[in-house]
Amino acid sequence: MTNKDYNQATEQPAHVIVFGNEKGGSGKSTTAMHVAIALIRLGYKVGTIDLDARQGTLTRYMQNRWNFIEKHRQGIPSPTHMAIPQSSNEDSARKKEEERNFIDMALNELKIQCDFIVIDTPGTDNYLSRLGHSYADTLITPLNDSLIDIDVLARINAETYEIEKPSVYTIMVDEQNAEKVTRGGEPMHWIVLRNRLSHLNARNKEDVGTLLNKMSKMFGFELVPGFGERVIFRELFLKGLTLLDLKEEDGGLTVSQLAARQEVRQLICTIAPEKIRGYARPPMERKAV
Ligand SMILES: Nc1ncnc2c1ncn2[C@@H]1O[C@H](COP(=O)(O)OP(=O)(O)OP(=O)(O)O)[C@@H](O)[C@H]1O
Ligand SMILES: [Mg+2]
Repeated sequence: MTNKDYNQATEQPAHVIVFGNEKGGSGKSTTAMHVAIALIRLGYKVGTIDLDARQGTLTRYMQNRWNFIEKHRQGIPSPTHMAIPQSSNEDSARKKEEERNFIDMALNELKIQCDFIVIDTPGTDNYLSRLGHSYADTLITPLNDSLIDIDVLARINAETYEIEKPSVYTIMVDEQNAEKVTRGGEPMHWIVLRNRLSHLNARNKEDVGTLLNKMSKMFGFELVPGFGERVIFRELFLKGLTLLDLKEEDGGLTVSQLAARQEVRQLICTIAPEKIRGYARPPMERKAV
C-alpha cells in the first residue's frame, strides 16, 4: 500500500452515520457504539453525538468506558463525544431553531476533526431525530427480527403478507433524504440491519427475511444479516467496552463472542469506510483489554 491510499483526515468533511428507528429497543445505541469503536480501531478519527440525551444510553456507555479506562486500562481509544439535549424553550419555532443550532454547532466542531461522525437517535419521533436523519450520509436502521418490529418500515397485510404501504418512519426517511438532496448533499446510503437473530423459530426468520427482501427493493435500502441474540452485548455496556476491545489472549473468546465480532466486522464491510475515506493509518498497537 502506498501513502496515497491512506486518508488525510481533515481534507474533507466527516461522513455522517446515523442510527435510527422509531421503535424503541432495537439496538441503535449498542450498534452505534460498536461501529464507532470499530472505526477508531481501524485508525479513523471518530466523533459521536447522542441525540437521545434524555435517555442517554450512548452517553452512559461512553461514561462507563471513560471510567473503565481510568480505573483499569489506559490506551483504549474513545471517540470525541457530545450529547445534545432537546431545547426547553416553550415556543415551538424557537425550540426548533435552538435545536438546529445545537446540532449545527456539534457537527461543525466534529466535521473538521473527524473522518466519521456517529449519531444515535431516540426511539421516538421528535424534531432532533428528524434533523439528525437529514444529515445522514449513511443511515443504519437496526431492527429486531420479528414480524411486529418490521411494521416500523411498512404495513403488512395479515392475511396475504402483501406489503400495503410504507410506514410513517419510511416516509420520514424519504422526506429527510429529499431535504438533504435539496441542501446539495448526496442521497443517503440506507442500511437495514436485522438484530437479535434467533437460532430458534426458523419459520418466523424466513418470513421476516422474505418481507425485508421485498421491502429493500421497494424502499431502496440495503439489507444486512446483522447480529444474533447474544448476552455479551448487555454485559459489555457496564464496562463501556465493545467486542472489538476484547482480545483472544485475555483468557480466550467464546465461539459466540468470536461470531459476534465477525458480525460487527460484516457491518463495517457494508459501510465500506475505505471507499468513503480511503484506508486509515493503522493505530499504534495498544495494550490488550
Ligand atoms: N444482538 C443483541 N443481543 C442481545 N441483546 C441485545 C442485542 N442488541 C441489543 N441488545 C440489548 O437490547 C437492549 C436495547 O438495546 P439498545 O439500548 O441498544 O436499543 P435502542 O434502539 O438504542 O433503544 P432505545 O430506542 O430505547 O434508544 C439493551 O439491553 C441491549 O443490551
Ligand atoms: Mg438508544
